Amino acid sequence: LALPSRARAQGWKPERPVTMLVPFAAGGPTDVMARLLAQKLAAILGQPVPVENVGGAGGILGTQRAARAEPDGYTIGLGHMGTHSANPSFYKALPYDPVASFTPLSLFAVNPMVLAAKPRFVRDLPELRDWIGQNKGRLTVATAGTGSVSFLGALLFDRATQAGATLVPYRGAGPALQDTMNGVTDVIVDQAVTVIPQAQGGTLVPLAVTVPQRLPQLPAVPTAAEAGLPALDIAVWNAAYAPAGIPEPRARVLTAAISQALDDPALAARFAEMAIQVTPPDQRGPEPLRALIAREIPRWARLTQEAGVKPE
Ligand code: MLT
Repeated sequence: LALPSRARAQGWKPERPVTMLVPFAAGGPTDVMARLLAQKLAAILGQPVPVENVGGAGGILGTQRAARAEPDGYTIGLGHMGTHSANPSFYKALPYDPVASFTPLSLFAVNPMVLAAKPRFVRDLPELRDWIGQNKGRLTVATAGTGSVSFLGALLFDRATQAGATLVPYRGAGPALQDTMNGVTDVIVDQAVTVIPQAQGGTLVPLAVTVPQRLPQLPAVPTAAEAGLPALDIAVWNAAYAPAGIPEPRARVLTAAISQALDDPALAARFAEMAIQVTPPDQRGPEPLRALIAREIPRWARLTQEAGVKPE
């Protein structure tokens, strides 16, 4: 007989499946992390944890769905720096309040991004910049929609290179990556999670990483700063939420279960392969997440104002 897990010892045990809502299409970073997390959570909670993808509008639709779900512990919404801190600066009528509509559960990972190009286009960042110089306004950048993190990466890149690029929105980074791999769009800036396997398989050409250190998985790929683009500096935090109003004991169980999943050596190893930087235990609970969001919303408001972005 199994000993009671840390999560279950907290006083609530789900009696039916707990849905994990991903506000982006399948195949993107949020989806990949969700599926790995959900599998482990199911074992910990003793119930299936199906992943539901509700993509579109830069993550707004799925995040709205999570906000409006019954606050009974049976819905966990995933979100990130885009859905819960940048989006208020991009949308005039955001259909949720990133603070008031949610109970924060866990700040589970902070990830590097990678700028990558379609195959047979350019070999490195200097070549891309030459191409941009000769083709002003012609570059296309695939994104997961306005306010998503691939969109934020694309904005930083476009500003830094003065490319005058066209940002092409998809329902998630999964289809955005797919179209870049197929040569429909030229480049993408997305979380390393999904770019690494493509770069290793030769279906995308990695050009630069957006954090101060190179990634062990892509040792030959320079940091953006090394490649002469220091302004392409961005790391993406990822988090889990319940709808506001969830009974506290249930929120505590979910928070503990997520933390327990993150400590699982097999999951940690899988995450590490994809450069997913799991937050240390003392930084992954609801309080650090609450404090982070309080800093991030005004930071993005400032950044977008400086960039001259007008909310839609
Ligand atoms: C984003 O661009 O916000 C995400 O990477 C989208 C996704 O996870 O599919």
